[in-house]
Amino acid sequence: MARIAPSILSADFAALGDAIARVEAGGADLLHVDVMDGHFVPNLTLGPPIIESIRKRTRLPLDVHLMIEEPERWVETYVRAGADLVTVHVEAATHLQRCLAQVREAGARAGVALNPATPAGTLQCVLDDLDLVLVMSVNPGFGGQSFIPSAYGKIREIRQLLGDRLVEVSVDGGVKQDNAGALARAGASVLVAGSAIFGSPDPAQEVRALRSASEVPK
Ligand code: DX5
Ligand code: ZN
Repeated sequence: MARIAPSILSADFAALGDAIARVEAGGADLLHVDVMDGHFVPNLTLGPPIIESIRKRTRLPLDVHLMIEEPERWVETYVRAGADLVTVHVEAATHLQRCLAQVREAGARAGVALNPATPAGTLQCVLDDLDLVLVMSVNPGFGGQSFIPSAYGKIREIRQLLGDRLVEVSVDGGVKQDNAGALARAGASVLVAGSAIFGSPDPAQEVRALRSASEVPK
């Protein structure tokens, strides 16, 4: 069974506190927060002040996905704002190992995200420096896009590379009830879902439904 991380990108930003309370009541495990800078991806979202406000409203661990250029300039700021986990893109972090060390030194867990066109092997040199790998199953920038099936093979490859290391493998983009089981079987331990959860009339129920859809038969 996978852990569920609702992505607030698809929530109503004018009623964010209420949206977060709903998924927390539904038993969400993490809250996924998408930070976009209008450069690394063609969209803008939110920054540290909003994360500080979210931090005060929920006990859920904050899983902050930085879709920004030069993430090394910002990681300490996001940890101070309340991030429990900071994920940077391998395509954006020129000195990836140093950037991951910065996250851990600042007191958070460190994640690396891979765009759909980025091979799993780019993780080879940082396998002992990370706590989570985020496999993008859409090109990042927007919620509600269609799932790209090459993510299954990449998740399996990453599990092989990781061996017995205790690292989460998370998948982000187009995750729904109909692919949750196959993603968990491929090796995903965290499912990020935005439009599936916040596009539903009952986000709490959708969190439960995604979790049960992810149950891997023995
Ligand atoms: C996309 C973001 C995702 C997004 C997923 O760039 O990283 O977290 O919210 O949205 P859905 O689940 O709608 O594909
Ligand atoms: Zn994301």
